[in-house]
Amino acid sequence: MAPNHLPASFQLFCTTAFFLILLHLHHCSAFGQNYHDALRKSILFFEGQRSGKLPPDQRVRWRRDSGLHDGASAEVDLTGGYYDAGDNVKFGFPMAFTTTLLSWSVIDFGKNMGGGELGNAIKAVKWGTDYLLKATAHDGVVYVQVGDPLSDHNCWERPEDMDTLRTAYRIDANNPGSDVAGETAAALAAASIVFRSRDPAYSRLLLNRAVKVFEFADRHRGAYSSSLHYAVCPFYCDNNGYQDELLWGAAWLHKASRRRVYREYIVRNEVVLRAGDTINEFGWDNKHAGINVLLSKEVLMGRAADLKSFQINADEFICSVLPGFSHTQVQYSPGGLIFKAGGSNMQHVTSLSFLLLAYSNYLSHANHAVPCGETSASPALLKRLAKRQVDYILGDNPLRMSYMVGYGPRYPQRIHHRGSSLPSVQAHPTRIGCKAGSRYYLSPNPNPNLLVGAVVGGPNISDAFPDSRPYFQESEPTTYINAPLVGLLAYFSAHS
Ligand SMILES: *[C@@H]1O[C@H](CO)[C@@H](O)[C@H](O)[C@H]1NC(C)=O
Repeated sequence: MAPNHLPASFQLFCTTAFFLILLHLHHCSAFGQNYHDALRKSILFFEGQRSGKLPPDQRVRWRRDSGLHDGASAEVDLTGGYYDAGDNVKFGFPMAFTTTLLSWSVIDFGKNMGGGELGNAIKAVKWGTDYLLKATAHDGVVYVQVGDPLSDHNCWERPEDMDTLRTAYRIDANNPGSDVAGETAAALAAASIVFRSRDPAYSRLLLNRAVKVFEFADRHRGAYSSSLHYAVCPFYCDNNGYQDELLWGAAWLHKASRRRVYREYIVRNEVVLRAGDTINEFGWDNKHAGINVLLSKEVLMGRAADLKSFQINADEFICSVLPGFSHTQVQYSPGGLIFKAGGSNMQHVTSLSFLLLAYSNYLSHANHAVPCGETSASPALLKRLAKRQVDYILGDNPLRMSYMVGYGPRYPQRIHHRGSSLPSVQAHPTRIGCKAGSRYYLSPNPNPNLLVGAVVGGPNISDAFPDSRPYFQESEPTTYINAPLVGLLAYFSAHS
């Protein structure tokens, strides 16, 4: 633990002044964060979440090959991909969302990724898309999950030791899942942009697959949690419907292919698919704010007057997030962190901040500001709020700790993560069985393996953080917390 070298008065100032002077606040950071270091770590985290056969250039060395027979029970190859969080299930819905957001991070902020990090970020995207290509290899079928979550959650086991049920779950015409299929199409389409000039053949493969998967998602409409309820709920249950993923998939296909059919699809289905719903939500389940921001770019660039309503929604989203406006709908902790109930709050912090930053750039290029009632919000204000959230994550917060493992002098020591909390295969070559892991789970000791770059669920609404494994809502990292953070850190590493 590092000495406490911040004057208390400074912290108090930062906390209480936040709401009053956000508009004029240029600097609320005592340290000056090392955004490039944080960027490098945020990408490295994805290597720790890898499933399958690890490549020779794997940098997270305490991990080994795992899940090498995934898909075998269904006679398909479903090895690879990412574990979503601190367990060993490969949940397709959040994995696809993670891949979409990693791609968006590279598309908008890849130019800001110096020192080899662009290459690392692209590898992180490809680890996701290589798997999604396997999951969509057969027409009319999408494999949406590997691993029985009840069997998995009943054990505290290293991925390398897994002996839990690796059931492969699928959707098809009779058991549709427009949510997970729509998100998978979005991920493949977004990634096709990442690889467009870097690997044109791979990019075409991704785009063609995205087209097919989207067609399947649209033709066979339904929520995957209807037929797969027992396997996906309550973990990644589709709570808010599949309509948003259809619009989201079409929006990414429009951006990737520039084919008119997708724009026409969006315009035609805007009302049916309830584009204006829940404007301030963005995450693996709800894509609304993301759709609005993504499509607004087209409007702001003067390329799509017929999508104007999405820009109006995006403006409304911004006004609902900014603190201190009469329109504010989003809560903030006393220390200034965006807070939404329901656990794993940092996923909201990073995804909403990403949208603030992306939208701010689109507005700047068009020389626009956001009208919020009597006042207006400048692109610079949006950026300051996004930066404030990132700085909070990195250590400018009441506990003066970073919520990213391995970054800064103080960070979470007991994250809710099987691989990180159990001894590595190198340190303990013999198997640690399902229940034999419990003593490591319950131990008060710090985790033996640093999952560098992992950002945890984070503090509660009072800015308090227990740093305790059983508090999974606070101490579990997830891939979809980090995916948008990669873009944010890239931008601030180049502009600070
Ligand atoms: C936040 O966590 C702290 C410490 O664990 C606890 O005392 C407090 O009651 C929590 N606040 C809320 C609103 O849950």
